[in-house]
Amino acid sequence: RIVDWDIETASKEGYPHFMIKEIHESPRAVKDTIDSLMSDIDLVEKVIEEIKNAERVIVIGAGTSYHAGLYFSIELNRLGINSLPIIASEYYNVRSKKGDLVFAISQSGETIDVLQGIRMMRNSGAKIISLTNVIESAIARESDYKIYMRAGPEIGVAATKTFTTQLASILFILSVLKKENLKKMEKAPDIVRDTISQVEGLTKKIGEELAKKSNIYYLGRGLSLPLAMEGALKIKEIAYVHAEAYPAGESKHGPISLVEKGFPVVIINDGELTELLQNNLMEMKARGAKIYAISVNKKMKDADVEIELQSEIPALSIAPVIQLIAYYAAVTKGYDPDKPRNLAKTVTVE
Ligand code: G6P
Repeated sequence: RIVDWDIETASKEGYPHFMIKEIHESPRAVKDTIDSLMSDIDLVEKVIEEIKNAERVIVIGAGTSYHAGLYFSIELNRLGINSLPIIASEYYNVRSKKGDLVFAISQSGETIDVLQGIRMMRNSGAKIISLTNVIESAIARESDYKIYMRAGPEIGVAATKTFTTQLASILFILSVLKKENLKKMEKAPDIVRDTISQVEGLTKKIGEELAKKSNIYYLGRGLSLPLAMEGALKIKEIAYVHAEAYPAGESKHGPISLVEKGFPVVIINDGELTELLQNNLMEMKARGAKIYAISVNKKMKDADVEIELQSEIPALSIAPVIQLIAYYAAVTKGYDPDKPRNLAKTVTVE
Protein backbone atom coordinates (compact mmCIF):
# COMPACT_ATOMS: atom_id res chain seq x y z
CA ARG A 1 0.00 0.00 0.00
CA ILE A 2 1.30 3.39 -0.93
CA VAL A 3 1.46 5.76 2.00
CA ASP A 4 -0.37 8.84 0.80
CA TRP A 5 -0.01 11.02 3.85
CA ASP A 6 2.88 12.62 5.67
CA ILE A 7 3.26 13.60 9.30
CA GLU A 8 1.80 17.03 8.69
CA THR A 9 -1.38 15.85 7.03
CA ALA A 10 -1.71 13.16 9.67
CA SER A 11 -1.64 15.72 12.45
CA LYS A 12 -4.27 17.69 10.57
CA GLU A 13 -6.44 14.63 11.09
CA GLY A 14 -7.86 14.73 7.61
CA TYR A 15 -8.57 18.45 7.55
CA PRO A 16 -6.89 20.41 4.72
CA HIS A 17 -5.57 23.07 7.10
CA PHE A 18 -4.87 23.52 10.79
CA MET A 19 -7.16 26.53 10.84
CA ILE A 20 -10.27 24.56 9.94
CA LYS A 21 -9.21 21.71 12.22
CA GLU A 22 -8.80 24.16 15.07
CA ILE A 23 -12.17 25.81 14.43
CA HIS A 24 -13.70 22.34 14.70
CA GLU A 25 -11.77 21.76 17.93
CA SER A 26 -13.42 24.80 19.51
CA PRO A 27 -16.23 22.87 21.27
CA ARG A 28 -13.64 20.62 22.91
CA ALA A 29 -11.42 23.58 23.78
CA VAL A 30 -14.36 25.40 25.35
CA LYS A 31 -15.41 22.29 27.28
CA ASP A 32 -11.94 21.70 28.73
CA THR A 33 -11.68 25.37 29.68
CA ILE A 34 -15.07 25.52 31.40
CA ASP A 35 -14.33 22.23 33.20
CA SER A 36 -11.02 23.60 34.38
CA LEU A 37 -12.57 26.86 35.61
CA MET A 38 -15.31 24.90 37.40
CA SER A 39 -12.73 22.74 39.13
CA ASP A 40 -10.78 25.80 40.24
CA ILE A 41 -13.75 27.90 41.27
CA ASP A 42 -11.77 29.23 44.27
CA LEU A 43 -9.42 30.99 41.88
CA VAL A 44 -12.37 32.42 39.94
CA GLU A 45 -13.93 33.68 43.19
CA LYS A 46 -10.64 35.31 44.24
CA VAL A 47 -10.33 37.01 40.87
CA ILE A 48 -13.90 38.28 41.18
CA GLU A 49 -13.15 39.68 44.63
CA GLU A 50 -10.20 41.56 43.14
CA ILE A 51 -12.37 42.85 40.30
CA LYS A 52 -15.03 44.08 42.74
CA ASN A 53 -12.50 45.75 45.02
CA ALA A 54 -10.52 47.42 42.26
CA GLU A 55 -10.89 51.11 41.57
CA ARG A 56 -10.46 50.37 37.90
CA VAL A 57 -10.00 47.23 35.81
CA ILE A 58 -7.55 47.83 32.97
CA VAL A 59 -7.96 45.16 30.29
CA ILE A 60 -4.95 44.75 28.00
CA GLY A 61 -4.29 42.59 24.94
CA ALA A 62 -3.09 42.63 21.34
CA GLY A 63 -4.77 41.54 18.10
CA THR A 64 -7.49 38.99 18.64
CA SER A 65 -6.86 38.98 22.39
CA TYR A 66 -7.59 42.71 22.48
CA HIS A 67 -11.00 42.03 20.94
CA ALA A 68 -11.81 39.49 23.67
CA GLY A 69 -10.60 42.09 26.16
CA LEU A 70 -12.79 44.82 24.72
CA TYR A 71 -15.78 42.50 25.02
CA PHE A 72 -14.93 41.91 28.68
CA SER A 73 -14.38 45.59 29.38
CA ILE A 74 -17.73 46.60 27.85
CA GLU A 75 -19.50 44.03 30.04
CA LEU A 76 -17.67 45.18 33.19
CA ASN A 77 -18.66 48.79 32.54
CA ARG A 78 -22.25 47.73 32.00
CA LEU A 79 -22.13 46.06 35.41
CA GLY A 80 -20.99 49.32 36.97
CA ILE A 81 -17.36 48.26 37.30
CA ASN A 82 -15.03 50.95 36.02
CA SER A 83 -12.97 49.40 33.22
CA LEU A 84 -10.53 50.69 30.63
CA PRO A 85 -9.68 48.55 27.59
CA ILE A 86 -6.25 49.20 26.12
CA ILE A 87 -4.43 48.00 23.03
CA ALA A 88 -1.21 46.54 24.41
CA SER A 89 1.18 48.44 22.15
CA GLU A 90 -0.26 51.75 23.47
CA TYR A 91 0.37 50.84 27.11
CA TYR A 92 2.51 53.93 27.71
CA ASN A 93 -0.55 56.19 27.61
CA VAL A 94 -1.97 54.72 30.79
CA ARG A 95 -1.22 56.22 34.17
CA SER A 96 -1.88 53.31 36.42
CA LYS A 97 -1.80 53.42 40.18
CA LYS A 98 -2.31 51.34 43.27
CA GLY A 99 -5.91 50.21 43.31
CA ASP A 100 -5.87 49.40 39.61
CA LEU A 101 -6.31 45.81 38.57
CA VAL A 102 -4.88 44.71 35.24
CA PHE A 103 -6.53 41.88 33.33
CA ALA A 104 -4.05 40.73 30.67
CA ILE A 105 -5.25 38.48 27.85
CA SER A 106 -2.75 36.68 25.64
CA GLN A 107 -3.00 33.33 23.89
CA SER A 108 0.76 32.78 23.86
CA GLY A 109 1.47 34.61 27.09
CA GLU A 110 4.56 35.99 25.38
CA THR A 111 3.47 39.08 23.43
CA ILE A 112 6.04 41.73 24.30
CA ASP A 113 3.65 44.69 24.31
CA VAL A 114 1.41 42.99 26.84
CA LEU A 115 4.41 42.06 28.94
CA GLN A 116 5.78 45.61 28.88
CA GLY A 117 2.34 46.95 29.77
CA ILE A 118 1.88 44.71 32.80
CA ARG A 119 5.43 45.43 33.99
CA MET A 120 4.84 49.15 33.83
CA MET A 121 1.51 48.90 35.64
CA ARG A 122 2.82 46.51 38.27
CA ASN A 123 5.62 48.96 39.01
CA SER A 124 3.05 51.61 39.77
CA GLY A 125 1.28 49.32 42.22
CA ALA A 126 -1.39 47.57 40.15
CA LYS A 127 -2.21 43.90 40.63
CA ILE A 128 -2.12 41.61 37.60
CA ILE A 129 -4.46 38.84 36.50
CA SER A 130 -3.60 36.93 33.33
CA LEU A 131 -5.64 34.78 31.00
CA THR A 132 -3.32 32.76 28.78
CA ASN A 133 -3.22 29.45 26.95
CA VAL A 134 0.35 28.52 27.81
CA ILE A 135 1.21 27.29 31.30
CA GLU A 136 3.93 29.35 32.97
CA SER A 137 4.30 31.62 29.96
CA ALA A 138 6.13 34.91 30.58
CA ILE A 139 2.92 36.86 31.18
CA ALA A 140 1.54 34.18 33.51
CA ARG A 141 4.80 34.15 35.49
CA GLU A 142 4.57 37.87 36.10
CA SER A 143 0.94 37.81 37.25
CA ASP A 144 -0.57 37.68 40.74
CA TYR A 145 -3.37 35.41 39.50
CA LYS A 146 -3.02 33.06 36.53
CA ILE A 147 -6.08 31.82 34.71
CA TYR A 148 -5.48 29.27 31.96
CA MET A 149 -7.53 28.43 28.93
CA ARG A 150 -7.38 24.80 27.95
CA ALA A 151 -7.55 25.24 24.18
CA GLY A 152 -4.44 23.11 23.57
CA PRO A 153 -1.77 24.12 21.05
CA GLU A 154 -2.90 26.34 18.20
CA ILE A 155 -0.82 25.92 15.04
CA GLY A 156 -2.67 28.26 12.66
CA VAL A 157 -1.23 31.76 12.90
CA ALA A 158 -4.67 33.35 13.05
CA ALA A 159 -6.30 32.74 16.42
CA THR A 160 -9.53 30.71 16.19
CA LYS A 161 -10.31 28.22 18.95
CA THR A 162 -8.33 30.34 21.38
CA PHE A 163 -10.53 33.40 20.70
CA THR A 164 -13.68 31.36 21.29
CA THR A 165 -12.07 29.98 24.43
CA GLN A 166 -11.08 33.46 25.64
CA LEU A 167 -14.70 34.52 25.22
CA ALA A 168 -15.90 31.42 27.06
CA SER A 169 -13.50 32.13 29.94
CA ILE A 170 -14.62 35.74 30.17
CA LEU A 171 -18.29 34.77 30.00
CA PHE A 172 -17.73 32.21 32.73
CA ILE A 173 -16.12 34.80 35.02
CA LEU A 174 -18.95 37.24 34.28
CA SER A 175 -21.52 34.56 34.99
CA VAL A 176 -20.03 33.85 38.42
CA LEU A 177 -19.73 37.59 39.05
CA LYS A 178 -23.42 38.05 38.25
CA LYS A 179 -24.29 35.01 40.40
CA GLU A 180 -26.00 33.37 37.44
CA ASN A 181 -26.82 29.72 37.26
CA LEU A 182 -23.78 28.06 35.66
CA LYS A 183 -25.96 25.60 33.76
CA LYS A 184 -25.89 28.01 30.83
CA MET A 185 -22.09 27.96 30.67
CA GLU A 186 -22.15 24.16 30.78
CA LYS A 187 -24.02 24.29 27.50
CA ALA A 188 -21.32 26.41 25.87
CA PRO A 189 -19.50 23.53 24.09
CA ASP A 190 -22.76 22.31 22.53
CA ILE A 191 -23.67 25.84 21.50
CA VAL A 192 -20.38 26.17 19.61
CA ARG A 193 -20.70 22.68 18.11
CA ASP A 194 -24.29 23.24 16.93
CA THR A 195 -23.38 26.57 15.38
CA ILE A 196 -20.49 25.11 13.41
CA SER A 197 -22.63 22.29 12.06
CA GLN A 198 -25.34 24.73 10.94
CA VAL A 199 -23.26 27.37 9.22
CA GLU A 200 -20.62 25.51 7.22
CA GLY A 201 -22.54 25.86 3.93
CA LEU A 202 -23.54 29.49 4.19
CA THR A 203 -20.20 30.70 5.57
CA LYS A 204 -18.53 29.03 2.59
CA LYS A 205 -20.84 30.86 0.18
CA ILE A 206 -20.24 34.20 1.94
CA GLY A 207 -16.48 33.60 2.11
CA GLU A 208 -16.39 32.86 -1.61
CA GLU A 209 -18.25 36.08 -2.39
CA LEU A 210 -16.18 38.26 -0.06
CA ALA A 211 -12.98 36.82 -1.53
CA LYS A 212 -13.76 38.73 -4.74
CA LYS A 213 -14.02 42.07 -2.96
CA SER A 214 -11.30 44.55 -2.14
CA ASN A 215 -13.04 46.37 0.71
CA ILE A 216 -15.54 45.28 3.34
CA TYR A 217 -17.17 46.96 6.31
CA TYR A 218 -17.97 44.99 9.43
CA LEU A 219 -20.49 46.82 11.59
CA GLY A 220 -21.61 46.11 15.13
CA ARG A 221 -23.00 47.81 18.22
CA GLY A 222 -22.48 47.13 21.89
CA LEU A 223 -21.11 43.66 22.48
CA SER A 224 -21.21 42.87 18.78
CA LEU A 225 -18.64 45.59 18.04
CA PRO A 226 -15.61 43.62 19.30
CA LEU A 227 -16.91 40.65 17.30
CA ALA A 228 -17.18 42.82 14.19
CA MET A 229 -13.60 43.96 14.85
CA GLU A 230 -12.48 40.35 15.08
CA GLY A 231 -14.36 39.46 11.88
CA ALA A 232 -12.59 42.24 10.00
CA LEU A 233 -9.19 41.31 11.43
CA LYS A 234 -9.60 37.66 10.52
CA ILE A 235 -10.46 38.21 6.85
CA LYS A 236 -7.72 40.82 6.56
CA GLU A 237 -5.11 38.53 8.14
CA ILE A 238 -5.61 35.45 6.04
CA ALA A 239 -7.55 36.45 2.90
CA TYR A 240 -5.79 39.81 2.41
CA VAL A 241 -9.03 41.67 1.88
CA HIS A 242 -9.13 45.16 3.31
CA ALA A 243 -11.81 45.05 5.96
CA GLU A 244 -12.68 47.72 8.45
CA ALA A 245 -14.84 47.39 11.51
CA TYR A 246 -16.89 50.34 12.66
CA PRO A 247 -19.43 50.99 15.37
CA ALA A 248 -22.52 50.83 13.16
CA GLY A 249 -23.88 54.18 14.35
CA GLU A 250 -20.56 55.88 13.66
CA SER A 251 -20.46 54.56 10.10
CA LYS A 252 -22.41 57.53 8.81
CA HIS A 253 -19.63 59.84 9.95
CA GLY A 254 -17.35 59.04 7.05
CA PRO A 255 -17.28 55.38 6.06
CA ILE A 256 -20.64 55.51 4.28
CA SER A 257 -19.16 57.84 1.66
CA LEU A 258 -17.34 54.86 0.13
CA VAL A 259 -20.48 52.80 -0.23
CA GLU A 260 -21.76 52.26 -3.75
CA LYS A 261 -23.49 49.48 -5.60
CA GLY A 262 -22.28 46.08 -4.45
CA PHE A 263 -20.08 47.34 -1.57
CA PRO A 264 -20.13 44.50 0.98
CA VAL A 265 -21.25 45.28 4.51
CA VAL A 266 -21.27 42.55 7.15
CA ILE A 267 -23.57 43.35 10.06
CA ILE A 268 -23.01 41.52 13.31
CA ASN A 269 -26.37 41.38 15.05
CA ASP A 270 -26.19 39.62 18.39
CA GLY A 271 -29.90 40.22 18.99
CA GLU A 272 -29.48 43.00 21.53
CA LEU A 273 -29.51 46.21 19.47
CA THR A 274 -31.22 44.89 16.36
CA GLU A 275 -33.56 47.87 15.87
CA LEU A 276 -30.68 50.33 15.86
CA LEU A 277 -28.64 48.09 13.56
CA GLN A 278 -31.65 47.93 11.26
CA ASN A 279 -31.41 51.70 10.73
CA ASN A 280 -27.77 51.34 9.73
CA LEU A 281 -28.62 48.47 7.43
CA MET A 282 -31.17 50.64 5.62
CA GLU A 283 -28.71 53.53 5.30
CA MET A 284 -26.11 51.26 3.74
CA LYS A 285 -28.63 49.52 1.52
CA ALA A 286 -29.97 52.84 0.24
CA ARG A 287 -26.47 53.44 -1.20
CA GLY A 288 -26.41 50.05 -2.91
CA ALA A 289 -24.50 48.04 -0.31
CA LYS A 290 -24.79 44.28 -0.35
CA ILE A 291 -25.73 43.32 3.18
CA TYR A 292 -24.54 40.15 4.87
CA ALA A 293 -26.18 39.84 8.28
CA ILE A 294 -25.01 37.45 10.96
CA SER A 295 -28.03 37.41 13.24
CA VAL A 296 -28.56 35.68 16.53
CA ASN A 297 -32.02 35.36 18.07
CA LYS A 298 -33.48 38.33 16.13
CA LYS A 299 -33.72 38.50 12.38
CA MET A 300 -33.02 41.63 10.35
CA LYS A 301 -35.12 42.91 7.50
CA ASP A 302 -33.86 43.25 3.93
CA ALA A 303 -30.43 41.68 4.34
CA ASP A 304 -29.21 40.20 1.05
CA VAL A 305 -27.72 37.19 2.80
CA GLU A 306 -28.46 36.33 6.41
CA ILE A 307 -27.09 33.69 8.72
CA GLU A 308 -29.83 33.17 11.29
CA LEU A 309 -28.98 31.47 14.53
CA GLN A 310 -30.68 30.80 17.81
CA SER A 311 -28.26 30.80 20.69
CA GLU A 312 -28.25 31.21 24.45
CA ILE A 313 -24.74 32.64 24.25
CA PRO A 314 -24.61 34.80 21.10
CA ALA A 315 -20.88 35.61 21.24
CA LEU A 316 -19.97 31.92 21.19
CA SER A 317 -22.07 31.44 18.07
CA ILE A 318 -20.77 34.49 16.24
CA ALA A 319 -17.08 33.66 16.87
CA PRO A 320 -16.90 30.51 14.73
CA VAL A 321 -19.05 32.12 12.01
CA ILE A 322 -16.66 35.02 11.39
CA GLN A 323 -13.72 32.62 11.46
CA LEU A 324 -15.27 30.26 8.92
CA ILE A 325 -16.11 33.15 6.58
CA ALA A 326 -12.46 34.29 6.67
CA TYR A 327 -11.23 30.73 6.22
CA TYR A 328 -13.33 30.14 3.10
CA ALA A 329 -12.36 33.53 1.68
CA ALA A 330 -8.66 32.65 2.06
CA VAL A 331 -9.08 29.19 0.57
CA THR A 332 -11.10 30.58 -2.35
CA LYS A 333 -8.18 32.85 -3.17
CA GLY A 334 -5.76 29.93 -2.95
CA TYR A 335 -3.94 31.17 0.13
CA ASP A 336 -2.66 28.99 2.92
CA PRO A 337 -4.63 30.26 5.92
CA ASP A 338 -2.21 28.62 8.33
CA LYS A 339 0.74 30.73 7.26
CA PRO A 340 -0.37 34.23 6.30
CA ARG A 341 2.34 36.40 4.82
CA ASN A 342 4.14 38.89 7.07
CA LEU A 343 2.48 37.63 10.24
CA ALA A 344 3.89 35.70 13.17
CA LYS A 345 1.99 33.64 15.71
CA THR A 346 3.76 35.37 18.55
CA VAL A 347 5.18 38.88 18.38
CA THR A 348 8.14 39.44 20.69
CA VAL A 349 9.44 42.75 19.34
CA GLU A 350 7.97 46.14 20.20
C1 G6P B 1 -0.16 37.98 16.64
C2 G6P B 1 -1.04 36.86 16.10
C3 G6P B 1 -2.50 37.13 16.42
C4 G6P B 1 -2.67 37.33 17.92
C5 G6P B 1 -1.74 38.44 18.46
C6 G6P B 1 -1.73 38.48 19.96
O1 G6P B 1 -0.43 39.14 15.93
O2 G6P B 1 -0.85 36.72 14.70
O3 G6P B 1 -3.31 36.04 16.00
O4 G6P B 1 -4.00 37.68 18.19
O5 G6P B 1 -0.40 38.19 18.03
O6 G6P B 1 -1.17 37.29 20.45
P1 G6P B 1 -1.39 36.74 21.90
O7 G6P B 1 -0.54 35.48 21.97
O8 G6P B 1 -0.87 37.79 22.85
O9 G6P B 1 -2.81 36.48 22.10
